[in-house]
Amino acid sequence: MDKLIIRGGNRLSGTIPISGAKNAALTLIPCALLTEEPVTLRNLPRLADIDGFQHLMNQFGVTTAIQGTRPEDFGRVMTLEATRITSTVAPYDLVRKMRASILVLGPMLARTGEATVSMPGGCAIGNRPIDLHLKALEAFGAEIELTQGYVKAMAPEGGLPGGEFDFPVVSVGATENAVMAAVLANGTCRLFNAAREPEIVDLCNLLVAMGAEIEGIGTSDLTIHGVKRLHGATYRVMPDRIEAGSYACAAAITGGEVRLEGANAHDMASTTHALQAIGVEVEEDKKGVTVRAKGALKPVNLTTAPFPGLATDMQAQLMSLLTKAEGTSVLKETIFENRFMHVPELARMGADIATEGRTAIVKGPSDLTGAEVMATDLRASMSLIIAALAAEGETQVRRIYHLDRGYERLEEKLQLVGADIERVGDD
Ligand code: UD1
Repeated sequence: MDKLIIRGGNRLSGTIPISGAKNAALTLIPCALLTEEPVTLRNLPRLADIDGFQHLMNQFGVTTAIQGTRPEDFGRVMTLEATRITSTVAPYDLVRKMRASILVLGPMLARTGEATVSMPGGCAIGNRPIDLHLKALEAFGAEIELTQGYVKAMAPEGGLPGGEFDFPVVSVGATENAVMAAVLANGTCRLFNAAREPEIVDLCNLLVAMGAEIEGIGTSDLTIHGVKRLHGATYRVMPDRIEAGSYACAAAITGGEVRLEGANAHDMASTTHALQAIGVEVEEDKKGVTVRAKGALKPVNLTTAPFPGLATDMQAQLMSLLTKAEGTSVLKETIFENRFMHVPELARMGADIATEGRTAIVKGPSDLTGAEVMATDLRASMSLIIAALAAEGETQVRRIYHLDRGYERLEEKLQLVGADIERVGDD
């Protein structure tokens, strides 16, 4: 297994190209199940999870072709063609490795009238149930059965009749599944208190390009008028706002200045507001965002929340940055119950962080020192890299397969702006 070795202390300076968004790509890919015609996705990030989802689609009989396989290419183009669906089952072995597989439930049900998906089970950042995915589909007229670890969803003869669902909790994944199921319904489907993350807007935009009728895009009330059939489309995946936010924290903790080429300022507004409150300058233009750290960092109180609130996916990275702020910061995690696993590792690097339930209290500024640390989940891993960039001496980050799931060519991008980071085989 590979590990990353980072020697901290270099001030980051230069330009980092921002990739296509992983979390958007993982809901755009299953849209190909909704039509017999080809769907072409451009700007797909080169990540393990995307390859995993491609295998899952192949398992259903969907053909996939990829362009942009040269190692020097950032972003790839994938054409998916679901002319004939040969299997409606997502098996345990594939779902176990990739939680996002649950996102085939809605579109498969809509296209074929049935879908069987292994239950994803818990994961490192909490229980992560799928009850809301199932309740929304039931509200649209699906019948749900749970047997032997699998969810089986069935539509009445002729398709889903439609209906209404009011989410008791905002759920990104459940909103995505419900929208993908609704676009081919016989009637109208309405969703209240739906998630309105930029990735959901991206999903709706692709579906509209395929012929779907969706009202309220970008709001929490969505009305979807089902259509008989959808057609193919070519679509460019949105830039990754979490990748951009992560590199913004990396630049800031080193006192550097980095341009995030291709980042969308509107989508990452909650992160930019947090950075500005910490005392980091952020400049936005049409083609990207520039982050400049000047002077001392200030402590802040931050709370994660559904969009447009602060993304839970930015909590760990901002926590690393706040270890260098002059004073006490308070970070509250409201989305997931077990998302502070980076705290003990950051403490091993010299951070002063106490947790109490879903609240973390960060006392800064700490003199961080390099250490051997273990990555536990995707964003936690990134927080360790950020701390390592500002630490004295060498940090070794193990279990970096988490990072490879979400950050395209991480060490290369950081090297571009002057970081001392290398990937070596573990011993
Ligand atoms: C969440 C994040 C998303 C992030 C992703 C990966 C939010 C609102 N969502 O999306 O930004 O990219 O994690 O880290 O910040 N829940 C249920 N039942 C369900 C589904 C969810 O109770 O059926 C609960 C979850 O336990 C959680 C909350 O709803 O407390 C939000 O979960 P959800 O948005 O579905 O998570 P993801 O889609 O995985």
